[in-house]
Amino acid sequence: QRIVILVSGRGSNAQAILHACTAEGWPARVVAVVSNRPGAAALEFAAQQGIATAVVDHTLHASREAFDAALMQVIDGFAPDLVLLAGFMRILTDGFVQHYAGRLLNIHPSLLPAFAGLHTHRRAIEAGCKLAGATVHLVTPTLDHGPIVAQAVVPVRPDDTPQALAERVLEAEHRLYPLAVGWWVRGELRLDGGVVHHTGEE
Ligand code: GRF
Repeated sequence: QRIVILVSGRGSNAQAILHACTAEGWPARVVAVVSNRPGAAALEFAAQQGIATAVVDHTLHASREAFDAALMQVIDGFAPDLVLLAGFMRILTDGFVQHYAGRLLNIHPSLLPAFAGLHTHRRAIEAGCKLAGATVHLVTPTLDHGPIVAQAVVPVRPDDTPQALAERVLEAEHRLYPLAVGWWVRGELRLDGGVVHHTGEE
């Protein structure tokens, strides 16, 4: 199976997925890393590993629709079975999401449905949450609201700053996203009445 990863920046989640794909011998390979920002660090390490990269710069497109159409064309050029959002910081149009329905995953740094959107760590601390975490979900047109595939939990410490919490959550993300994608590429996920079930071994 062919995986395309969309990034906007650092790409540490993309890196974790690339590593797991090889290390765990997934029946899949990452065929391209695509960024909306030309300088994204993720592009460098992907290129170093011999993976195709592409940039679709959102600042060069007049509308969201035009950007998404250009992005779709580039992605479809790689004929993916699965498209992963990994720190991809653009809101996608309904048309884009529908085009990849059932094969578009995102990782979000909160325990959804709590704290969709931005500044999740600051909001979790301000709300007095004792637990935080990350969620991998199927992408649907409503932002950060698709069926949940997997979640990881970390503690919120009394003296946490948003940055300290972000680092703890990010470490969990690097285990969680590869786990969830491994399930997907091995065909171990079943969508039933809007709820995702993992059917393989834990
Ligand atoms: C992650 O925390 C992800 O959940 C969020 O943005 C961050 C991306 O980090 N959406 P990276 O680019 O994968 O290092």
